[in-house]
Amino acid sequence: MATKQQRLCVNEADGEAGYARNSAIQSAAQNWMKPAIEEAVIGLLNLKSTDVPNSMVIADLGCSAGPNALALVSMAVDAVLHHRHAAQHDQGPLEVRVLLNDLPDNDFNDVAKRLVSFQQSAQSSGLLLTAGIVPGSFYKRLFPSNFLDLIVSSNSLHWISEVPKELRSNMIPLYDEDEGLRRARRPLVIQAYHEQFRKDFTLFLKLRAQELVPGGRMVVSMLGTRDYLCITPWDIIIIPLNDMASRGLISREMLDRFYVPMYGPSDTELREIIQDEGSFEINEMQVHQVDKTLVVPNTLARAMRAVFEPMIVQHFGLSSDSMDEFVRTLEQQLTPASPYHTYLVGDRVFVSASLTRRF
Ligand SMILES: C[S@@+](CC[C@H](N)C(=O)[O-])C[C@H]1O[C@@H](n2cnc3c(N)ncnc32)[C@H](O)[C@@H]1O
Repeated sequence: MATKQQRLCVNEADGEAGYARNSAIQSAAQNWMKPAIEEAVIGLLNLKSTDVPNSMVIADLGCSAGPNALALVSMAVDAVLHHRHAAQHDQGPLEVRVLLNDLPDNDFNDVAKRLVSFQQSAQSSGLLLTAGIVPGSFYKRLFPSNFLDLIVSSNSLHWISEVPKELRSNMIPLYDEDEGLRRARRPLVIQAYHEQFRKDFTLFLKLRAQELVPGGRMVVSMLGTRDYLCITPWDIIIIPLNDMASRGLISREMLDRFYVPMYGPSDTELREIIQDEGSFEINEMQVHQVDKTLVVPNTLARAMRAVFEPMIVQHFGLSSDSMDEFVRTLEQQLTPASPYHTYLVGDRVFVSASLTRRF
């Protein structure tokens, strides 16, 4: 039987459970990218000052909605303005085109409204800025060849293109109820995800290398793990869902068939994949620990609802009240008194890379 397409998008921007109000952790991860984005923009402008067409095309992949959707492109545009302001001589007009990508179910209405005011404010600073929305998967071609100067992406590339097939076909659940079985199968599960991530990220690099101009830049950041830990991005929702299944609030059988298409690589894994694929020079890679001050149980539990609600509701058919119970369960598990606290709050990291497309 064919499996239904999984709903891979976050909650719409607005409202109590919306992504706009519940994405402070992701916003902090974006702020870490600022120096790398500024450095990339300056590098590109220096390259372009010797080049004739004075334009720059910037794309954010997996932009989502709410204030984070435009945060990275704003950093890039601010860097353009700052650099040109600081330049001694007149370099002529510069046109910037900003393109925002996400999957078709994304709340693009919210993005479109934000883009209009973003465009107006850039134009009042003397920049001709045009904008566009590009729906589609970043595991497919999204742009023409040799078209983009800069690609940015935050908190999105740990979403893989599909759940490893062998887990479904061998009926290996993400979270066995039996602890012994769970421990025994964990390396298998992690290995299957690792291989799917390698395949997807290699494809992603190949596609982006075609779309970027030679010397084009890419700055990306995603959820990751320390080499020695192997925490996955889905533990944080599987553990509360397991608790709800134990209390009979959701079906155990449904939980055993629930798979999340996400994998957080270590920086070593990411580096190896980039080097093996070969289209990009690595300028810098970084690992940032999630800011502990942002890991307040209620804030983190609500953030997880904002990201995972569409996927959970689609699979389990949960009501809004049951999603409230999901938040309460996770919130309780995140408190220091809970036996899950150390594991769930633990050493969570974001991994980032600043790359240049080889000439
Ligand atoms: C947690 S949000 C991150 C949004 C924003 N960039 C931020 O940093 O807050 C992840 C986004 O990636 C998008 N996404 C997941 N897989 C994707 C794919 N294959 N192609 C494009 N977007 C994808 C999701 O729809 C979601 O909006």
